[in-house]
Amino acid sequence: MIVGEKEGTPEAVDALKDRIAACDGLLLVTPEYNNPIPGISKNAIDWISRPPQDQLRVFHHRSVRLIGATPGYFGTAFSQTAWLPVLRLLKLRVWFGDLLWVSRAMKVFDADGNLADEKIRKRLGQYLEGFAEFAGGSE
Ligand SMILES: Cc1cc2nc3c(=O)[nH]c(=O)nc-3n(C[C@H](O)[C@H](O)[C@H](O)COP(=O)(O)O)c2cc1C
Repeated sequence: MIVGEKEGTPEAVDALKDRIAACDGLLLVTPEYNNPIPGISKNAIDWISRPPQDQLRVFHHRSVRLIGATPGYFGTAFSQTAWLPVLRLLKLRVWFGDLLWVSRAMKVFDADGNLADEKIRKRLGQYLEGFAEFAGGSE
């Protein structure tokens, strides 16, 4: 089935757009596939960027930042960089106050997926405080 602009968008796409439009800040937790953006994440953003006239409500000037964790050594550094032109095109307001790339994720999370590394937990807390301040408009 082809779902295009004429036929309307799936309900999940509209729901995601509404959730983003209602938030002060958008924290994208990105994976990394063969360095840049995994197709499924890009596909989600592509869906919610249509129709173009909705971009003002959903994206323009909304605070955004990226974090991520991978089993490799670069902790989504490539993927986070690859997102930047997309965020710029959609006129999001990117926070550049800090960076968080979590490498060797298998040593940082326990078997249940909990963040078990105290140092990274503290870094994440500081990072989120900085982003929340930015998104709240007080930076
Ligand atoms: C097709 C594919 C490409 C990947 N490429 C990278 C990569 O370039 N850099 C990296 O750090 N991790 C890479 N990964 C690992 C993922 O970012 C992710 O951490 C991992 O897939 C999560 O574990 P899971 O696949 O068992 O859910 C890749 C994974 C897949 C499936």
